[in-house]
Amino acid sequence: MLYKNPARSMIALFAILFFMTQAAQAEGPAPKLANVTILATGGTIAGTGASSTTTVGYTAATVGVQRLIQAVPELAKVANVSGEQVFQIASENMSNEHWLILAKRVNVLLAQANVDGIVITHGTDTLEETAYFLNLVVKSRKPVVLVGAMRPSTAISADGPINLYNAVLLAASQEAIGKGVLVAMNDQIQAAREVTKVNTSTLDAFRTPELGMLGYIQGSKAFFYRQVVRKHTFETEFDISKVAVLPQVDIVYGYANMGPVAVDAFMAAGAKGIVHAGVGDGSLAAKVVPALKAARAKGAVVVRASRVGQGILARNGEANDDELDFVVADTLNAQKARILLMLALTKTSDTKEIQRMFYTY
Ligand code: DGL
Repeated sequence: MLYKNPARSMIALFAILFFMTQAAQAEGPAPKLANVTILATGGTIAGTGASSTTTVGYTAATVGVQRLIQAVPELAKVANVSGEQVFQIASENMSNEHWLILAKRVNVLLAQANVDGIVITHGTDTLEETAYFLNLVVKSRKPVVLVGAMRPSTAISADGPINLYNAVLLAASQEAIGKGVLVAMNDQIQAAREVTKVNTSTLDAFRTPELGMLGYIQGSKAFFYRQVVRKHTFETEFDISKVAVLPQVDIVYGYANMGPVAVDAFMAAGAKGIVHAGVGDGSLAAKVVPALKAARAKGAVVVRASRVGQGILARNGEANDDELDFVVADTLNAQKARILLMLALTKTSDTKEIQRMFYTY
């Protein structure tokens, strides 16, 4: 036995160590992990419920970013992760001011050589809006991935931890570079421009109907099968670095029996733009047209969108946009059309230029 002959056991030990070192050198140095910063803003992913079966009626925005990171030790296998608590809010309370703070922080971080990607944890209610806003103002090709959860962190089978793990590995991946702002939920990769929340509570609430998601995250790897066509991030013409306040743009919702009250109220409150989320292909009720014309005459830019959710909003289809001097939203839903109109108004009030922007982004 080796222990009966110490000299032989030392030789055996050195031999084992030598071959282990050789093997390690043969594999080469461990690949350098990307540096990913997690910017936490709140939401259900940071939420807690009264019990493990509480999946509705919980409190959003209670768990801090460090605890979110500690809850998923596997993050360290896919990236060098650091965390910042930018806000701690339920995302129905997200505002233009929050967006400017967040976007400016993102651009400062991405300009740093030691930051390779960013993950933003966020409530799901307005996640698609924040994603699209960032898609229009982030000045980098580096990945920016938004992630949330449909169940609070305290729930059985909470989706937050795996969603966060997937979002971090996506932000750390080479494949995500230059793809625009992405949303990682439910093992799927969605594009900021088209993704939307289509269910109040199920795990698969984030979809890209008709135009399709971009790919999957499976087995700790990102798989892309398509990419976006419209301009974004590093191609953007919008610069918010010196913007202190975004122009007020509001949305009126179309429905049977609709009247001019909402349009008039928003204009009285100082709106610089009105998005009309019309029925069908953005149809305008006869009772609303005079109010929209008056808004335009006061200098507000009017964008015709649809409440329907899918399809192209045809210019000069349900209304004579050339004559009314209105803009059409193309395939953007009303909440995203509002975002693009706000940013457009930081550059111009020329409706032909704004219509170009709606066909560009
Ligand atoms: N209050 C909602 C929000 O913060 C909860 C929904 C969620 O985050 O999933 O968006």
